[in-house]
Amino acid sequence: MKPRILNFGSCNIDHVYLMKEFVRPGETLACSDYQTYPGGKGLNQSIAIALAGGSAIHLGKIGKDGEWLLEILKSFGVNTDFLLTSEKPTGHAMIQVNSEGENAIVLHGGANESITVDEINQGLSLATEDDFLLIQNEINNIPYIIEEARRRKLRIAFNAAPITEAVKNYPLDKLDLLFVNEIEGSQLSGTTDRQLIPEALALRFPNTRIILTLGENGSIYRFGQDIIPQPAIEVKKVTDTTGAGDAFTGTFLAYFSRDEDARLSLQKAAEAASQCISRQGATTARG
Ligand code: RIB
Repeated sequence: MKPRILNFGSCNIDHVYLMKEFVRPGETLACSDYQTYPGGKGLNQSIAIALAGGSAIHLGKIGKDGEWLLEILKSFGVNTDFLLTSEKPTGHAMIQVNSEGENAIVLHGGANESITVDEINQGLSLATEDDFLLIQNEINNIPYIIEEARRRKLRIAFNAAPITEAVKNYPLDKLDLLFVNEIEGSQLSGTTDRQLIPEALALRFPNTRIILTLGENGSIYRFGQDIIPQPAIEVKKVTDTTGAGDAFTGTFLAYFSRDEDARLSLQKAAEAASQCISRQGATTARG
């Protein structure tokens, strides 16, 4: 049986504005196009897991305005039986994408930040010791989720995105896998030298597999004496970098959860990230 990945993750409605350049303070600019997409790091990663052949159960919360997100998750084969509905509106993101494909994001947590301890306990009670738990930093009560998942002996993967000051005080020593980009990695390791980040994090968290993503500079896996670099896969044109980290994380975990082959997982993750940045939107799903 495939190991299941319980993803306690966000769902957002992404409002995407295509811009020549990002708006600067005091400026008003018209966009060249506007689209609404399903998003949220949690939803994007659940879809990436499913597309990579993994078994994803999406836990978390949406508002009544987000029921279409549930249908989208289901259409990819993600289990949504335990996705709850909140009185709060669904989380949303206002995303500017410039002509280089870079993004600037304003986030509103909404329902994603209304998850109670009881709901966490209910969600985790589904898990067995063969399961993985995946979390990103877009929901509330993360330290509790980590502690409780550890108590239940789940293998825990955390994507420290988007990074906040609070993350530094999370019980990160209890993680099995930690996914960071360069900014997140340097904040958690205290070094801005990208070559030193994996080593510094490995020293701090010796029981955790560190996966550092570096955009066009590829990614690095580090655990014990294993250091595996993976080059990025070149694309003809970078259309939109939104969700590339999510495609990478979900795909890596889908492969890694099957046979712990870090090299293959990195390769497949790099392929998924390159496909993601070649098209518009955080996933292939459309609203
Ligand atoms: O990682 C990309 C995601 O970040 C977007 O889909 C947006 O919703 C924000 O959460």
